Amino acid sequence: LADATLKGLKALVTSGPTFEPIDPVRYIANRSSGKQGHAIAAALARMGAETTLVSGPTRLPDPPGVTTRHIETAAEMLAACEAALPVDVGVFAAAVADWKVARPANQKIKKDDSGRTPALELAANPDILQSMSHAGARRPKLVIGFAAETENLIAFAKAKLEKKGCDWILANDVSPDRGTFGGDRNTIHLVTQANSEDWPDLSKLEVADRLGRRIAAHFGRVHA
Ligand code: C5P
Repeated sequence: LADATLKGLKALVTSGPTFEPIDPVRYIANRSSGKQGHAIAAALARMGAETTLVSGPTRLPDPPGVTTRHIETAAEMLAACEAALPVDVGVFAAAVADWKVARPANQKIKKDDSGRTPALELAANPDILQSMSHAGARRPKLVIGFAAETENLIAFAKAKLEKKGCDWILANDVSPDRGTFGGDRNTIHLVTQANSEDWPDLSKLEVADRLGRRIAAHFGRVHA
């Protein structure tokens, strides 16, 4: 499928975790490595798409040929995504923190000798996938999200598709025994409004290539 091309298309990809500050030195984060999102951004760029990657903090180098925007919080990720619109395709692979700290402290929170512990009040973060799916005239023509589940993959992915308003969901099994988080492999089920496809166990790089080819096919860019 060397003839699958994304030339002339614009792509937006999110990747990695978000960091939500507690105070100037502490934050809430998660175990996302960014490997899958970065691989997707690299694959789309290699296939010719003008690609923007909005990435939370990861240990990965910026993918070649990609415009990478580094952010920390979900609010910053949303703003960077909005600034990247309009695009033809959006792939939202980031593990966005569901909650932020409602009122992060301006100074480092001190231990006190009484043994009292601070209580963190949380507030909901914006849902970037859902917000991009409802961006009206600026909505990416094809909106793709991920669903990390430990059971009932397809049913939960279908429900997520409806709830978020996106076009495709890549559902993956993140049961601890699969080692998906931080690992190099992924077993994907591509769920669309119409049907679902089971992909074989693939490396995250292969998943990225396969997704790139599916996107090319969607836009009629595959010449067999
Ligand atoms: O709701 P849940 O976190 O399971 O949804 C996962 C999908 O939604 C992923 O594509 C993720 O990138 C996206 N998401 C997002 N913003 C959030 C939460 C999830 O873009 N605040």
